[in-house]
Amino acid sequence: MIVMTGATGTLNGATVDHLLKHVPPTRIGVSVRDPERAKHLADRGVRVRQGSYDEPEALRHSFADAEQVLLVSSSDVTADVVRQHRTAIDAAVDAGAHRIVYTSAHGTGVDTPYPPLAIHAATEQHLEASGVAWTALRNGFYGDPDQLLGPWRATGVIAKPADGPFSWVDRRDAAEAAAAILTSTAPLDGAIDLTLSAPVTLADFARAASELTGRHVERVVIEDETWVADEMAHGTPEAVARFTLSMFQATRSGHFAGSDPTLARLLGREPRSIGDQLADRLAS
Ligand SMILES: NC(=O)c1ccc[n+]([C@@H]2O[C@H](COP(=O)([O-])OP(=O)(O)OC[C@H]3O[C@@H](n4cnc5c(N)ncnc54)[C@H](OP(=O)(O)O)[C@@H]3O)[C@@H](O)[C@H]2O)c1
Repeated sequence: MIVMTGATGTLNGATVDHLLKHVPPTRIGVSVRDPERAKHLADRGVRVRQGSYDEPEALRHSFADAEQVLLVSSSDVTADVVRQHRTAIDAAVDAGAHRIVYTSAHGTGVDTPYPPLAIHAATEQHLEASGVAWTALRNGFYGDPDQLLGPWRATGVIAKPADGPFSWVDRRDAAEAAAAILTSTAPLDGAIDLTLSAPVTLADFARAASELTGRHVERVVIEDETWVADEMAHGTPEAVARFTLSMFQATRSGHFAGSDPTLARLLGREPRSIGDQLADRLAS
């Protein structure tokens, strides 16, 4: 049986949908914080059990009979997330899982220019020490392109701090790849980079947006402190603005410049490009 957490979230909600194309529902389980929100899965025959990363006993119950457990990285910003991940890994080991798959992030490392990556590094260390086989899905950045680019559709301008190359993947591709790994007969061990075949910059986004709209979209570089001040003037808390700034700074240090063909190989096609993703966003 394959059991996953986060199935009421965006990424693993899509992963469970992909799994259902290849695996009978009776061989799939989900561990969710609120089973009411997984009713659509229970209705399809998926085993739904309650469990949060703060409830080791509930997690052990959720993970019972699992050969593989897929753990989503916690989105609980108020919690000790590394402790939550350790709790979930320990519960999967206690339940007898043979492999633990974890949604990590591209560029993960202990000493990196982007602080959140240390959480994934600590989690991967715990996986390594767990004694069971593990796979860390080091996904490229993903999310709503408008959150990355700002109000470019209204202004015709992508006005952000200086950036460097990074991978911006489509979350649907990350989910499809996760399902491919879970159903593979040749498991991938350790940390796997799931990126675009070539990294992109915000200038590439501006080019893609210009091509799609037929209107010139300009990439304008804003000096770091001016950008932070602008964000704060628009109501963004300083800590949030500086957190986002650290991401741009990390990209321009070249930290995310690497790319890997594994995502394309798992999908059997090129990952959706930033142009594809912007087109989808414009159509929605
Ligand atoms: N690579 C990137 O650029 C990127 C971008 C955004 C997020 N992420 C990370 O990737 C994860 C998945 O992304 P997403 O887009 O699917 O985010 P999402 O839609 O916010 O889903 C997060 C999932 O984590 C679950 N969760 C949060 N805290 C938990 C806890 N204490 N115990 C058990 N489950 C818990 C949530 O459960 P509920 O459904 O009950 O709320 C939800 O299902 C995020 O949690 C975040 O760590 C990565």
